Amino acid sequence: MCGIVGYIGKKEAFNILIDALKKLEYRGYDSAGIAVWNKGKIEVIRQKGKVDELKELALSKGIKGTMGIAHTRWATHGIPSERNAHPHRAKDIVVVHNGIIENYMELKQRLKKEGHKFTSDTDTEVIPHLISNYLEKGHDFIDAVRLAACELKGSYAIGVIREKDRTMIAAKKESPLIVGVIDGESIIASDIPAVLDMTNKIIFLEDNDIAIFNETGFKILDIEGNTVERTIHTIKWTGAMAQKGGYKHFMLKEIFEQPIAITDTLIGRVKEDKGEIELDDLKLPDLRKIKKIWMVACGTSYHACLIGKYMFESNLKIPVEVDIASEFRYRDPIINKEHMLILVSQSGETADTIAAMKEGKNKNAYVLSICNVLGSTLARDAHGVIFTHAGPEIGVASTKAFTTQITVLFMLMLFAGKRLGLFNTRQLQEKIGELRKIPHKIQEVLNNAENIEEMARKYMTYKDFLYIGRGINYPSVMEGALKLKEISYIHAEAYAAGEMKHGPIALIDENFPVVVLSPIDTTYQKTCSNIEEVLARRGKVLLFTDTTEHEMAQRVESTFVMPKTIYELQPIISAIPLQLLAYYIANLLGTDVDQPRNLAKSVTVE
Ligand code: F6R
Repeated sequence: MCGIVGYIGKKEAFNILIDALKKLEYRGYDSAGIAVWNKGKIEVIRQKGKVDELKELALSKGIKGTMGIAHTRWATHGIPSERNAHPHRAKDIVVVHNGIIENYMELKQRLKKEGHKFTSDTDTEVIPHLISNYLEKGHDFIDAVRLAACELKGSYAIGVIREKDRTMIAAKKESPLIVGVIDGESIIASDIPAVLDMTNKIIFLEDNDIAIFNETGFKILDIEGNTVERTIHTIKWTGAMAQKGGYKHFMLKEIFEQPIAITDTLIGRVKEDKGEIELDDLKLPDLRKIKKIWMVACGTSYHACLIGKYMFESNLKIPVEVDIASEFRYRDPIINKEHMLILVSQSGETADTIAAMKEGKNKNAYVLSICNVLGSTLARDAHGVIFTHAGPEIGVASTKAFTTQITVLFMLMLFAGKRLGLFNTRQLQEKIGELRKIPHKIQEVLNNAENIEEMARKYMTYKDFLYIGRGINYPSVMEGALKLKEISYIHAEAYAAGEMKHGPIALIDENFPVVVLSPIDTTYQKTCSNIEEVLARRGKVLLFTDTTEHEMAQRVESTFVMPKTIYELQPIISAIPLQLLAYYIANLLGTDVDQPRNLAKSVTVE
């Protein structure tokens, strides 16, 4: 996720900005840049790569000055490169930005008509141009930033400086931005760790705030230009705690980031009023000619594919075959040009998934990747790509990448269904409406996290767990069991609930807790019978459902109730309590949650 910082005061801005950027490195980035103001001139230096390399380059150019802004970029629009790195400039306006500008294409076209020339592929570049455009129309600097902010749709935290003015302006909507309060100087940043070395007095800017900093101090305006007061908080975190946003582990932070990760993945793509999905100019082949879809991936991403199969087959009526990437190419799959291959990967660098892409291309299929990392091999080399905008995932166990992958698969299914004429506008509006409610419903689950922690305390000492579910809930329990085993080292296996009688039921006794995912859907009654079977063998049931009236709730040991949603989106909601259960058990057992033994974040060997 991008990190922004800005400084104005009496000290050398360069050192302060570089130190602050280094404190934001944990967020992940692919390029970095800095702009420093010196006697009415702004020097901008940016490049692909690490902050240390940026520092070397800037030092070699003798950059100097007492006001500046800087940025670490995690690419969302446009590959990682110098031209796409921030800061972006238009005339004497220089901007750093974190977030996604939903209406940038519209604004870009309008500004181009007014003579503005663009040099990057980013959404951000419209911001300095828009501000500059207002200045040309006679507005002052503060008003120009405020009016530009009024026009931006989507999310932003921005830092703006101008050659003609020794003033720094910051603005925010739906992306975090804080102000470090110090006598005679000011620092802004997207996260607390960046400023902790200088101050622990922090203001959290609110949505639509515009903060103006100069030699004498700062003031905060609302979007209409009225002065507003914001509380100054005293932060007691250490640097390490602050990087994790106060959470004990990155994994827990990432679990809690899922409402925003999904919101970011939806931004600019779902048009509920029109019943439309827009997928980043994706050029798919004629879908009427696609006879079969393959979905191929590894680990958690493979589970997302299995969920995709349920969504696609029931709605699009196209056969979908899901494969584990490490198996795929060795069985010489029968693929041809009437097939589409969908590869799902957080990193975009998983060796077996890349090999599967080659297999599909060699056999003339259309290859589409769903990735989280811009510029990754799968993103670059597939015929088409859709990005999950989950932001960097640092914990080894995948959480927000998984739920954003399901989000993208659902959008893709709607997009394809519309093209195939399978949904009318009202049906699309309804499904998109449900999708838009998902971040809020996830938040409801997160608000009850302590109930799951309680459950974890009760079951943490067991050595084996069985996870069962039916239909689309089956891949969800596979993912739940994977989470538990990889971070707690407890043996956990998942079965389709109907398979229990065919073997695993032999394992059930009072020492074998069974996690059951049983929302109200077409297989509800059948899953109730499976719960009966477990109880009859003195098995302990942890029930996860979407109703307070589940007929087995009174008879099982533990129940957690989730918000209701539609069948295809249930896996996103169900993922959250199962991730939390795994997390809290592992944490209570004291394992290395973020870097479990023997595991790597990106498996780049076959
Ligand atoms: C499990 C996990 C792994 C990855 C798998 C694929 O929590 O993170 O199973 O899902 O290694 O990685 P990507 O999605 O990067 O291809």
